[in-house]
Amino acid sequence: MQKSILITGGAGFIGSHVVKLFVSKYPNYTIVNLDSLTYAGNLENLKEVENKGNYYFEKIDLLDEKGLVDVFKKYQVTDVIHLAAESHVDRSISDPLAFVKTNVIGTVNLLNAAKSFWEDLEDHLFYHVSTDEVYGSLDDGGFFLETTAYDPQSPYSASKASSDHFVRAYANTYGMKTVISNCSNNYGPNQFPEKLIPLCINNIKNQKSLPVYGKGENVRDWLYVEDHAAAIDVIFHEGKSGETYNIGGWNEWKNIDIVTLLCEIMDRKLGNEKGTSEKLITFVKDRAGHDLRYAIDASKLEKELGWKPSLQFEEGIEKTVDWYLSNESWLKSVTSGDYQNYYKEHYE
Ligand code: NAD
Ligand code: DAU
Repeated sequence: MQKSILITGGAGFIGSHVVKLFVSKYPNYTIVNLDSLTYAGNLENLKEVENKGNYYFEKIDLLDEKGLVDVFKKYQVTDVIHLAAESHVDRSISDPLAFVKTNVIGTVNLLNAAKSFWEDLEDHLFYHVSTDEVYGSLDDGGFFLETTAYDPQSPYSASKASSDHFVRAYANTYGMKTVISNCSNNYGPNQFPEKLIPLCINNIKNQKSLPVYGKGENVRDWLYVEDHAAAIDVIFHEGKSGETYNIGGWNEWKNIDIVTLLCEIMDRKLGNEKGTSEKLITFVKDRAGHDLRYAIDASKLEKELGWKPSLQFEEGIEKTVDWYLSNESWLKSVTSGDYQNYYKEHYE
């Protein structure tokens, strides 16, 4: 069957890298990007594929049930890779309902559209892209395995955990072919500057303070976004139906160490005297319910499907800083308007 893949959230950070990879690597596939273009969605991220013959864009909200069904019909969708979501933990703390709507109801709407359109569910795949945050916080050491019990701690992770459960329920109840991956923190080009790394790069550029929550001791495992997209490619094509795969970089950093590293890199690139940017570091009120540590054990994906991260963090972070420094107009356009209001409300 000729593949016609519906990728949701393709105008966002990770989705845009997945769309670019699939459009260029698989010219025989039809790639449909469905995105409602929230503050986090930006078609600028897709400039290099927008004129490709196998790429289509549909501005549709996951809450628009009829719109979803129409897209399945229009493109004869054979498979789904579902990334669209509200993705920022801090926003979930101030507006949990928005996360229930998009991440939970939106995912169920998409599952229903697929179930109603696909005649033989055995012939199609529903791939749900999820997060390691569903497993909770590793306060006493160890790693998240695919078998780790769910223990979400924030409204964001609760909504993603719920959507994961719905996907598994559709596999169990209706026989839908599904796969889920749970990935650690991504970084790289096109990440919206509400997230730690691009926020710090932008603030250093503008000589603004660098807000580190609490004592900066929280630990995250960081993966370059193109390595996540490559993992999604492998799992989509080789993953076993009904399985879950953890994706991670074996690359744990305390927040304060990441921020200090960014200060050093930026000082070097901007020709500042050593130590200039570090003076901007400001410890601020901690995030409510802040998970202490996430760490992924990605051995299942490595052993069973042969994926591993391709980039060392030192290389990836240099590439990321270079991208933000040479894409000033992108950064300016996403940090004007609403972003300024968000920033004031959240940080000032
Ligand atoms: P993002 O916020 O950058 O992009 C989300 C995209 O979804 C945007 O283009 C937005 O317009 C779209 N969207 C939001 N609500 C929508 C709706 N109701 N209908 C249609 N489109 C809508 O997110 P991201 O960081 O690229 O994350 C993508 C996915 O990967 C999410 O499901 C997230 O939970 C998951 N994830 C993210 C990370 C990470 O570090 N960023 C790590 C693991 C998993
Ligand atoms: O683990 C995967 C998750 O990673 C994804 O599912 C989420 O979509 C993604 O946003 C990310 O969540 P985090 O909350 O870990 O990412 P964020 O960049 O918001 O924060 C990273 C760490 O830095 C976290 O411990 C909070 C801290 N932080 C963040 C911001 C924005 C600060 O200290 N200061 C800040 O201003």
